Amino acid sequence: MKIFNMFPCKVVLCFLLMFFLHTARAQRTELTEMKKVRLSFMLDKEGAPFYEVAFDGKPVVLPSRLGFKLNEDSVFFKGFQWKGMERKSVDTVWETVWGETRTIRDHYEQLVVHLEKGGAVSGGAVASMEKGAATPLRKLDIIFRVFEDGVGFRYVFPGQPDLKYFIVSDELTQFHLAGDHKTFWIPGDYDTNEYPYTTSRLSEIDNKSLVEKSTDIAVRVAPDEYAVQTPLMMKSSDGLYINIHEAALVNYPAMQLHVDRASFTLSSSLVPDAVGNKAYVHAPFATPWRTIIISDKAAEILACKMILNLNDPSKIENTDWIRPMKFVGIWWEMQTGRGTWSYSDFPDSMGAGGRLIPNGRHSANTANVKRYIDFAADSHIGGVLVEGWNVGWEDWFGNWKENVFDFVTPYPDFNVKEIMDYAASKGVHVIMHNETSGSATNYERQMDTAFRYMNKWGYTSVKTGYVGRIIPRGEHHDGQWMVNHYVRVAEKAAHYRVMLDAHEPVRPTGLQRTYPNWLACEAARGNEYNAFSNGNAPEHETILPFTRLVGGPMDYTPGIFRLKGYSDVPGRQVHTTLAKQLALYVTLYSPLQMAADLPENYAAHADAFQFIKDVPVEWDTTRVLEAEPGDYVTIARKEKGRNNWYIGAITDEHSRMVTLSLDFLDKGKKYRATIYKDGAGAHWKNNPEAYSIEKRTVDSKTQLTVQLAEGGGMAVSLTGF
Ligand code: NOJ
Ligand code: CA
Repeated sequence: MKIFNMFPCKVVLCFLLMFFLHTARAQRTELTEMKKVRLSFMLDKEGAPFYEVAFDGKPVVLPSRLGFKLNEDSVFFKGFQWKGMERKSVDTVWETVWGETRTIRDHYEQLVVHLEKGGAVSGGAVASMEKGAATPLRKLDIIFRVFEDGVGFRYVFPGQPDLKYFIVSDELTQFHLAGDHKTFWIPGDYDTNEYPYTTSRLSEIDNKSLVEKSTDIAVRVAPDEYAVQTPLMMKSSDGLYINIHEAALVNYPAMQLHVDRASFTLSSSLVPDAVGNKAYVHAPFATPWRTIIISDKAAEILACKMILNLNDPSKIENTDWIRPMKFVGIWWEMQTGRGTWSYSDFPDSMGAGGRLIPNGRHSANTANVKRYIDFAADSHIGGVLVEGWNVGWEDWFGNWKENVFDFVTPYPDFNVKEIMDYAASKGVHVIMHNETSGSATNYERQMDTAFRYMNKWGYTSVKTGYVGRIIPRGEHHDGQWMVNHYVRVAEKAAHYRVMLDAHEPVRPTGLQRTYPNWLACEAARGNEYNAFSNGNAPEHETILPFTRLVGGPMDYTPGIFRLKGYSDVPGRQVHTTLAKQLALYVTLYSPLQMAADLPENYAAHADAFQFIKDVPVEWDTTRVLEAEPGDYVTIARKEKGRNNWYIGAITDEHSRMVTLSLDFLDKGKKYRATIYKDGAGAHWKNNPEAYSIEKRTVDSKTQLTVQLAEGGGMAVSLTGF
């Protein structure tokens, strides 16, 4: 039998045993297939729903439980009866507003199963039942979609008299994996995704010491040392790549995963609210989709569009005003300690006339903002982010203070009219900054005022932030209340025609399809950690596309050119070469890309800065040329509406020879290639700023061979003649 050759006999035997056990126990089994992916849904003899997933005949998810504990029914995972099912096949193509590709194919086989429990006759009065019946009659549907690169499923609570308003105490969804996979993980923390990644076997996962020592992260609440965050990336010992996440997270808490290290079972662990409940539901209601992306090629995990396909189409009808862009910012100078967000160093002491005493280092002053506007205009960069422009920064952080910012009152040295007039005259957008300090109630109260202020002065986008403990107190960044808050902000922003970039929100789940004005999120450990902590390991950016970016674009803030000596802290440096910083504009997709370094550091390397000026943020097509989580990523993308291609190639701490065939270029056409590569002797640690630039003419028959340094990279622009 073929699978015995590919799989250790023990695992196959175990799989077959489980399969036969469950088949024997099943009262009903339904199969759904798409190419190599096979989903089985089973209802066992106790009326408990289970599912399993195989890829190319290999077990991926062994029979795994589905269901809930509800306040209304603590065993809403068994006692169900099969009431029917529906199937359909879908194969459509839709157009993106912006993204890695202009169009996306949505191709799947759908199975909907209708389950019901209760309704037995014994006494009592329940709305839907016949006279004399005691057990309420309750319904649950499960929708499965089987794609050629995995499976998505969601629960639907249909509208029903005996399950109308209820509380989810626990969701019991499990992913019983077939082996002790190599796993790329961060802790399942209720409040942050800003951890560095650990690579280990499933059986070795333990986040305790990492959580304890991550004191550079503002708020950490990881109550379970065996909990991990999604998107969770795994690789089996026989070369299957498996990614578990969720899609369309709306009105429900984020799903983290608790790992049973002995059986390799991952159980859904929903982020609780302030009183320990998980979700408040009013049926009819559909949960987010649980997603399992599977491939035998790592590159296909990066190319997978399942998460976007499982989200609803745009709710914004006219999207003409949504414009992806690059931006610079009054930002890195504060991150590195050269300037301050606050106007004064003394929150409580006022000078004569009751005014704050200026510290003389406030970065968001009119002259400095104009300097950045000039720089953006000269560089054809669309936007300038200005942080620290509004009053409140003197005691903004760490006080769990509710009324922390008002979002409309500038510091005395920030002349909003002069700045916005100047920006308009130069054709530059100024990006609003609304740090909430975690006080979401304060932001909710002022949101209309804040967005009206943006409209009045001509701000077309906003960066929000949630550093700190959440208010309403007791809520978490990733609980149902805050999940709803982020969506409310996106909707409010759309109402005022403002684009959104959220820092410290729950990690994305493809909602950028539904709210295309929600361009980017942070929700991971960004480049900024190289400024104020020990930073990000050279492999970090080779893991992010397989984990955090599976859910959506990240505002990683690449483009640091001065890689050492930017901080007073000895030994502090960025753990990449300069060429790798350029490559990140291609390998870490975002429709909003920052050129994060200071203008003077770009001026010092004007030839390398040319790549940042040229690289677009919207694409017609994307080709993942080669990838391996934790090791390397090489991606080529074609600029939207133009015959130009850009390539980014990055490696981890190991040097790497990259050989690329340019066969994706138009046949018979010549292109001007500018290759930005690591210079002789480049190394992320000792010689990160060594680069060289080569120009040559290439065509679809050209093979490019380039050596990447340790922690290095390569960026290429290819312009059609
Ligand atoms: C954390 C954000 O990630 C960063 O970009 C921002 O500058 C600070 N918070 C202040 O809002
Ligand atoms: Ca952050």
